[in-house]
Order: sequence, then structure tokens, then C-alpha cells
Amino acid sequence: MTVGRLYTRAGSARAIADRPSGQCDPTGARRPLVIDPTARVHPSADLEAGVSVGPGTSIWQRVQIRSGATIGAECVIGRDVFIDVGVPIGSRVKIQNAALVYHGVTVEDGVFIGPNAILTNDRFPRAITATGELARADDWEVSPIVLRTGASIGAGAVVVAGMTVGRFATVGAGAVVTRDVPDHALVAGNPARRLGWVCYCGQRLVGPTGARVASDHAGAARCPRCDAAFDIAGDACVTS
Ligand SMILES: CC(C)(COP(=O)(O)OP(=O)(O)OC[C@H]1O[C@@H](n2cnc3c(N)ncnc32)[C@H](O)[C@@H]1OP(=O)(O)O)[C@@H](O)C(=O)NCCC(=O)NCCS
Ligand SMILES: [Zn+2]
Repeated sequence: MTVGRLYTRAGSARAIADRPSGQCDPTGARRPLVIDPTARVHPSADLEAGVSVGPGTSIWQRVQIRSGATIGAECVIGRDVFIDVGVPIGSRVKIQNAALVYHGVTVEDGVFIGPNAILTNDRFPRAITATGELARADDWEVSPIVLRTGASIGAGAVVVAGMTVGRFATVGAGAVVTRDVPDHALVAGNPARRLGWVCYCGQRLVGPTGARVASDHAGAARCPRCDAAFDIAGDACVTS
């Protein structure tokens, strides 16, 4: 593997440019590395050219952030996290140790990504073409993932390329997400199936009897912790 230009920036972050890494599609971003003075970046983190880091964000040991990725304000990026080329990360996002966020993923504000979660980008991966040559950027297609505001991805979960995880939805530990997840839905398992519904605060919603609502519940529901009220119909769960 060829390792490209290596240089040290003033401050603690190390930047490595022009380094190939797996199946990503280089954006060619050649903007400077911009780290807000109030952000904290561990000296062992690798931040490439064109990365920006917002105010109050913490980036821990051995994080790798590739060219053109943008990290918002007040984020916490845990040890050994990988963030690929051009990935936009919102504000107040927590990404736990060793999570992998590939090119084509969009992470909105307030998202939680558990340890070792994997957000993929290629539905039908191949290392080589049909004629045996190494597959290049043009030989594969990115299927984007969107993690909407407030969503949580459990430890070790895999989100298959092309899926959207809705606002304030929760994906259980170890799930394999193969379908879009509606707002406020709770899904788990392989393939991930809906177990029920969750509040803005993450608590499971209950029905009029006080019992947790099932995945096929229709009608009123509320949060036993913060008393927020919801209306559920089919795949839609909205504040009432
Ligand atoms: C999905 C989750 C929210 C469900 O929690 P819960 O509502 O307390 O669920 P319960 O323990 O009552 O389990 C309900 C059923 O779902 C099953 N279940 C729970 N979590 C599951 C998971 N992650 N995958 C598959 N099945 C799961 C249980 O086995 C149980 O099945 P049963 O009814 O056949 O016995 C929780 O288990 C989870 O995975 N949270 C994410 C934790 C995480 O990754 N945190 C990251 C930070 S460290
Ligand atoms: Zn609540």
C-alpha cells in the first residue's frame, strides 16, 4: 500500500493526505484542516486535509477522519473510530469506540452510534471486476445511509447500505438493519424487526393500560418517563 504525503500540523493533530483506504470515493477535497480552538483532539488522531472540527468537540485516541469529513459542535468521537471521506457529522453527536462510518453516510444532529457499529456503503461489494482487475471507484456504486436527528444505533449493529434510520429511532445492539427504520421505531435482531416505539428520551412508549406498545400498535401512546404523548398509525409515530 502506498502511503502518501505525511505532515504535522501546528497543534496536536496529525494529518495524512492522499492515502488510499478500501472502497471509498475520493472527493478530491484539498481544503485546509480546520479545528476550532475549543475542540480537543488527541495527538494520536489522524485528521486529513479538508476535515473540519466544530467548537467543543472531543476526538479521542487513534481516531481516523478522512478528507472532507465535517464534524459539528460538541461531538464526542471515541477511540479508534473511522470516519470516511466527505462524511458530514452534525452537532452533539456521540460516536463510541471503534465505530466505522463509511463514505456516503450522513449523520444528523444528536445521533448516537454505539461501539463497533458499522455503517456500510456498498450493497454488492467486490474487490475485483469481472475480468479480475482491482475494482476502482468507478466500478462500484455508493448506496447512502442517513441517520436522522436523535437516532441511536446500538453496539455492534450493522446498517446495510441504502437505509435511513428515522428521527429518534433506536436500533438494538447487534441488529442488522436491512430496511428503513421509521421515526421513533425500536428495531432489533437479524434482520432487524420492529419491537415497539421509543420516545425522544429513548424510553419505550406505553399504551393506555401502561403496558409497552407492540410493533403493530395503533392509536395513542405516551412516554412513562417524560409523559410526551404520541399517535401511532402504521409506520408513523408522531407527537400528538
Ligand atoms: C433493543 C433494546 C432497546 C430492548 O431493550 P428492552 O426493551 O429492555 O428489551 P427487553 O430486555 O424487554 O427484551 C424484549 C425482547 O426483545 C429481545 N431483545 C432485546 N434486545 C435485543 C437485541 N438487541 N437484539 C435482539 N433481540 C433483543 C429480548 O430477548 C426479548 O425477547 P423475548 O420477548 O423473546 O424474551 C435493548 O436490548 C438494546 O439492544 N439496547 C441497545 C444497547 C446498546 O447497544 N447500547 C450502546 C451503548 S453501550
Ligand atoms: Zn420520554
